Amino acid sequence: MQNTLEYFIKKIKESLKDNTFVKILINSSRSKSNDLNKITIRIVEISSEKKLSFLYNHKTKDITKNYSFEDGITELQKYLGVDFRNGILYTINNDIRLQFSKKMKPNISTGKATYNKLPDTNHNKKKKRFVKIANNKYLQSLGVVTNKGEVAQNMQDKYKQINKYVETIDGIIKNSSLKNKKELRIVDMGSGKGYLTFAVYDYLVNTLKIDAKITGVEQRPDLVELCNNIAKENKFTGLDFTNGSINSYKTDKVDILIALHACDTATDDAIYKGIRSNAEVIITAPCCHKQVRKQFVVDNEFRDVVKFGILEERQAEIVTDTIRSLMLEAYEYKTQVFEFIADAHTHKNVMIVGSKTKTNTDKNKYLEKIKNLKSVFGIKYHYLEKLLQK
Ligand SMILES: C[S@@+](CC[C@H](N)C(=O)[O-])C[C@H]1O[C@@H](n2cnc3c(N)ncnc32)[C@H](O)[C@@H]1O
Repeated sequence: MQNTLEYFIKKIKESLKDNTFVKILINSSRSKSNDLNKITIRIVEISSEKKLSFLYNHKTKDITKNYSFEDGITELQKYLGVDFRNGILYTINNDIRLQFSKKMKPNISTGKATYNKLPDTNHNKKKKRFVKIANNKYLQSLGVVTNKGEVAQNMQDKYKQINKYVETIDGIIKNSSLKNKKELRIVDMGSGKGYLTFAVYDYLVNTLKIDAKITGVEQRPDLVELCNNIAKENKFTGLDFTNGSINSYKTDKVDILIALHACDTATDDAIYKGIRSNAEVIITAPCCHKQVRKQFVVDNEFRDVVKFGILEERQAEIVTDTIRSLMLEAYEYKTQVFEFIADAHTHKNVMIVGSKTKTNTDKNKYLEKIKNLKSVFGIKYHYLEKLLQK
């Protein structure tokens, strides 16, 4: 066994040295109870230094660790021929497979190369940025970018969030019935300081060349004034901000209704407006979830789930957003719920997106589901449900 494993390691070292290494795969666990499924090893370049990057694929999570070539080869030997029976070294010249039998007798074979090209190893590869920093006047006015044209130190997370948000909206539009529309009417409810509203407008109008008309609705007059001034300075003629509450805003024809981090039931007001104005797409990222939490009376097997404040808070979020997603489904919106940015950047990262694609929905089926869910948590009413009963 030793010689065969040594030969395999020698081949790995050679391929690293002569730059023919593509990747290594270690799999075929010896034990069904092993939580680790497989390990994939690739080269990554971090700050001009090459490392072996191990991706440990567990049943419920992936973990990545980077090692020097030497340490990586030591690490690999903790698994191959110990807990795992199969190792494949892919190089651009050939595939070298080391296999251990049930009795751990090793066998090595060499086959035709699966890959004929070296992979891109640049870990610091420039990411596609949807929101450009250079000469970006609105981001400067909003304090995201300094007058030297760099993202301000305390705005790094905000900038990432804005980018991710525009990227997400881009994907949503391209996967919706709006994908070929050259004109879009969008309302952004609870637009705040307008970071995201400006970025979406700029992207749709100046990058995608769509004739977009966007209105931000905001209850704080100071923010409305600030945003209207910035829109004017940037000659964003199709973008305006209006002062008032979401529920008093008169919606005309709306293609996309957006409500990001609108407080508590303001998200429901926005979803309601979206459904009633027959918006093609409704995009919300809910904020706090007080309305449902205050009503929790749980006298069943879920009582321990809401015993501790933090778990009760999270449960309220889950129940509230589940009801919202079911309600959207009831009103013929195909609904998705996902995290749109890593929670290292913001905790408010759940997005609920409804696209009007369904027809002949059995509305009562969804209303029944909502009724059952409410009864488990002792909820008398959900605010959105009440709005839609009007
Ligand atoms: C947390 S900020 C989010 C701003 C922006 N959408 C974003 O994600 O960056 C929420 C904003 O919604 C506004 N807002 C909350 N409830 C509202 C309501 N019912 N009508 C209008 N604006 C509301 C607040 O004044 C605040 O500016």
